Parts: sequence; structure tokens; C-alpha cells
Amino acid sequence: MSNSRYSRIVILTGAGISAESGLATFRDKGGVWAQYDYQEVATPEGFERNPEKVHAFYNMRRRNAQTVQPNAAHRALALLERELPLIAGVGAEVLVVTQNVDNLHETAGSRHLVHMHGELMKAWCTYCDTRMPWIGDMSSATVCPTCSASGGVRPDIVWFGEMPYHLEMIASKIDAADLFISIGTSGNVYPAAGFVSDARRAGAHTVELNLEPSEGACLFAEVHHGPASEIVPTYVDRVLDGSV
Ligand code: APR
Repeated sequence: MSNSRYSRIVILTGAGISAESGLATFRDKGGVWAQYDYQEVATPEGFERNPEKVHAFYNMRRRNAQTVQPNAAHRALALLERELPLIAGVGAEVLVVTQNVDNLHETAGSRHLVHMHGELMKAWCTYCDTRMPWIGDMSSATVCPTCSASGGVRPDIVWFGEMPYHLEMIASKIDAADLFISIGTSGNVYPAAGFVSDARRAGAHTVELNLEPSEGACLFAEVHHGPASEIVPTYVDRVLDGSV
């Protein structure tokens, strides 16, 4: 029986946790924003200008995301969520806050999870405000199954300039956290990049697990660099056996 030192853990993930599953990150060499202009495919203005271009971009990413599998890092976080309450008591909890829009955390078994930038496998009808699961392609001709109108269905993705989801809940969980771990994110995009500072103010221990130092690496009390599929399972084992 081991005894974790932590019982309220918030984990922020970014594109780097899905890289070894085969999904491109955004800002690494050859990444998504080296191939596409984010202003054309990931802003409300871009969608207004050319909706079909935006639909084609997300149709391609939605199809890709259904061809890949979780890696050992995703599975380690699902294990931590299952095992922590058994070790640290029933009140112990792990929350994964992901910037990613793929569903690899869910496929790996994470349940206590929020997608702050939305989800590829969801659609949003801006006419009747219905949000619904969506695995096929989408276009301006797509008819909303709820209100039967076409032209209003868009990917349920938070674009640049739009408000990320679940921010109040995330803030309250970080405020109560005793451990904050950031995995596979470059620390370029707010508000996610500011979560480590909120966690420090809350008195949580802060850890960065990333391939290389992120923009905010100096803000973390502890950093480990390497591929997520290697350093995340190792760190999860150490949290569960109380050695960190
Ligand atoms: N293991 C661990 N980390 C990795 C790996 C890996 N195998 N491969 C890459 N990384 C790290 C990179 O070093 C980088 O720091 O993952 C990070 C990816 O950074 P970005 O490409 O900027 O992705 P992310 O931080 O998730 O972007 C945040 O920006 O474009 C928006 O909405 C989009 O959610 C995204 C947000």
C-alpha cells in the first residue's frame, strides 16, 4: 500500500501529449500552424470569410483523430484518476484540463476531464445553440438535426478570440489543488499558460513534463523533459508510490 502526498491534482495537457499517437502539434517544426494560417481556419472572422475552408480543415483533423490511438501518457493519466482515490482516500481526485480537441484522453479511460478548447467530435448549431456528437464531415449545407436549418452548424471548437470553456470550474479546481502538472504544452496560449501561476498562488506543487522547456518552464517548481510516453508514466508511478 503506498501513500500519495497529493489528493487534489489538476493536470493541464496540450498537443505534445498526443504527438506520439501521431497527431501533429501546432508550433513544433512542420506543425499545424506551419501548414495553415490560423487566422484563416481558427478564427470567427476566417469562418465568416470562407466557411468551406474552415470546414475542410476540421473535417481533415476530425478524420485523422479517428485513426489514432492513445499512448502510454494518456493511459497513465487514466490510471492515476482510478488509483488515487484508493490510495489517498475517496475525496482524492484528478482533473484533466485539456487544450486538445482529440478524444484520446477519453479513449484511454479518463472520465474527470474538460476540453477547454472544445472537441473535434462535437458540432454546434449557432442557430438553435444545440451541441451534439459529430464524427462525420461538416459543411455549410449540413442540416442541424434539432432545428432542421442549414448554414448554422460549425465545429464545437474554441477559436482564437473566443472564450475557452469551463474557466470558472477550472479556476476553482486549481485554487484547491495541491499538485498541478502541465504536460505537452508550449505555454504560448492564455489563459492555459497562466494556470501554473494560479496554482503557485494556491500553494500547489507545480510540475512541467514536456519534450523541452516551455515558454513558462521557469515558473514550475519541478521540470522533467523527454517524450510524454516515457516521462508521464514514470511520474504517475512516483505520485502513486509517494516518492514525489
Ligand atoms: N512529449 C512531450 N511533449 C512534446 C512532445 C512529446 N512527444 N512533442 C512535442 N511536445 C511539446 C513541445 O515541446 C511543445 O512545447 O508539446 C508542446 C506543443 O506545443 P504547441 O504545439 O504550442 O501546442 P499547445 O501548447 O497544445 O497549443 C496550445 O494553441 O493553437 C492553439 O488551440 C490550440 O490548444 C492549442 C493551443
